[in-house]
Amino acid sequence: MDMQTAEQRIDELKRLLTQYGYEYYVLDKPSVPDAEYDRLMQELLALEEQFPHLKTADSPSQRIGGAALELFEKVEHRTPMLSLANAFNEQDLRDFDRRIRKAVGDDFSYVCELKIDGLAVSLRYEDGLFVQGATRGDGIIGEDITSNLKTIKSIPLRLSEEVSIEVRGEAFMPKLSFVALNERRKERGEEQFANPRNAAAGSLRQLDPKIAASRKLDVFLYGIGNPEAVGVVSHSEGLDYLDRLGFKTNHERRKCATIEEVMEFIKEKTEQRHQLAYDIDGIVIKVDSLHQQAILGTTVKSPRWAIAYKFPAEEVVTTLLNIELSVGRTGVITPTAVLEPVRVAGTTVQRASLHNEDLIREKDIKIGDKVVIKKAGDIIPEVVNVLVDQRTGMEVDFYMPTHCPECESELVRLEGEVALRCINPKCPAQIREGLIHFVSRDAMNIEGLGEKVISQLFAENLITDVADIYKLTREQLLALERMGEKSVSKLLAAIEASKSNSLEKLLFGLGIRHVGAKAAKTLAQEFGTMEKLAAASKEELIAINEIGNKMADSIVSFFEQEEARELIEELRNAGVNMEYKGPKPISASESDSIFAGKTIVLTGKLEHLTRNEAKEKIEALGGNVAGSVSKKTHLVIAGEDAGSKLTKAQELGIEVWDEERLLEELKK
Ligand code: IVH
Repeated sequence: MDMQTAEQRIDELKRLLTQYGYEYYVLDKPSVPDAEYDRLMQELLALEEQFPHLKTADSPSQRIGGAALELFEKVEHRTPMLSLANAFNEQDLRDFDRRIRKAVGDDFSYVCELKIDGLAVSLRYEDGLFVQGATRGDGIIGEDITSNLKTIKSIPLRLSEEVSIEVRGEAFMPKLSFVALNERRKERGEEQFANPRNAAAGSLRQLDPKIAASRKLDVFLYGIGNPEAVGVVSHSEGLDYLDRLGFKTNHERRKCATIEEVMEFIKEKTEQRHQLAYDIDGIVIKVDSLHQQAILGTTVKSPRWAIAYKFPAEEVVTTLLNIELSVGRTGVITPTAVLEPVRVAGTTVQRASLHNEDLIREKDIKIGDKVVIKKAGDIIPEVVNVLVDQRTGMEVDFYMPTHCPECESELVRLEGEVALRCINPKCPAQIREGLIHFVSRDAMNIEGLGEKVISQLFAENLITDVADIYKLTREQLLALERMGEKSVSKLLAAIEASKSNSLEKLLFGLGIRHVGAKAAKTLAQEFGTMEKLAAASKEELIAINEIGNKMADSIVSFFEQEEARELIEELRNAGVNMEYKGPKPISASESDSIFAGKTIVLTGKLEHLTRNEAKEKIEALGGNVAGSVSKKTHLVIAGEDAGSKLTKAQELGIEVWDEERLLEELKK
């Protein structure tokens, strides 16, 4: 075949396969037999192999999954991917309705949608071509999973119009695919996925796109990142527009004029949910008009114009086999119920915290009882109550011990506390938990040094305090269970890297009573170095906003301890950084910047800065960056394609700058 004929045929095949794929995967109405589709695909693959330069990014052959990646690149979302506030009952919904009414009056409608239980993804198209897909990540920065998303057949590689658009939705694994996948894994002796959501997330986090391609993933799109830019005025219009562009949206949606209609929708879907082909965990209720959405605005975490109604937690009955005790980092003794394993809301549960003795008495829990279990917030297993009438008389009362199960020193109940504590500072359990805390994410963040490795190192006396972590050798680590050359090298590099953490991570990691991650940051910013903080008096400490009496006392007595000072010296000698490295906030009154004390809103696309960079710079100059425009806004910075926020600023007569002006002022 000559090249020109090949080119024509390839175009024809791409068109047919795209069309058939759309009918099959998006519309769920196949128009040709599977065998015909497969035959055309084979023909396309063969031609593309023969003429590789004719292969394009929107070719259906791209869905098979190309070469494996080394790692996922980070992607900064152009507008943050927020999450939703939750409602758990009718009252929460009525409160939500009242807040909306107060802000926009009575003339509005809602759109109700299913809350798909998968993972949020963002898809970016340029001139109609799929260019990048990302996970939500922390909402600001996600991971580039384009090659994996291309394997999802309902995601169009090219749209029906040449638009540039960012769309958001939920990737998920249908229930039947999930069951089949777990069957296969069981046969191969591989670990099973706990639920479809984990399976979908696990599949999209594989560096090899062939794995994602082999899993039957699907997606529903539920939103547009830049709706104003594509000219829609309501959410429901946006969804219809997504349909026309060739996306798959969920059609179990309904426009509702009142909260009563919303409640009716919830009732219907609650009954039908188990018949659906995919898992849903609730109903999302959104104000339809984009203009009204803009008036309502967002908080840092979630829009005020939407709420997620979560289905009530599933409850099951099982037997409480035993109550075990654990000693926490601060010496608190926690009783935990050991349960006959039971499936609840998608996972197998075999332990549930009982928190403290009072709760055990209050719920009248005995060992051997039949108990009702649910997952609080759909995640944390909890004993709801005991089925007292099912007792056989063989149940055994439980009493908290008088002595520490780990070090045998006498337990105390501090005034005003429900918890029993071991107050022996040398208690091995507390030291071990303190070590685990030190390496945890918000503290020194040493990846590869999890609970299991720490427990092993501790049991073998290789580490007795946090400074010992920096003395570990390659040989010592290699001798541990399940530690090969590669993981040891990685771990040593992570330990090394942690030495340059900014001061607040170390401060939090030291586990000073009452000093949480946020307070640690404030302290690091205010004092700058460990020496200065260690020398601070109680008065100096309480002079700081956010630092109260109790915390100040605790900090002073921490640094008075000989052992603490020695430990810090040891860490310093090991090369651990003792200085704050982040931007220093200037309090509004101190700063003579034009931004000081002002509330500023960023909107639209900035060319020279990411939104996050702009935010950091403005905050470093004493400004306060907010998510939505209101009467309290002093200034709006509008980049390209700025939409409703700009309109609102103009309506309210708020000063508006372009990016150039912002850059100029930042330079001053
Ligand atoms: S709207 C700014 N609609 O639920 C609001 N979310 O915290 C964006 N989800 O991670 C969310 N189905 O991925 C919306 N129909 C739906 C949804 C939905 C599932 C997920 C979403 C987000 C979480 C909410």
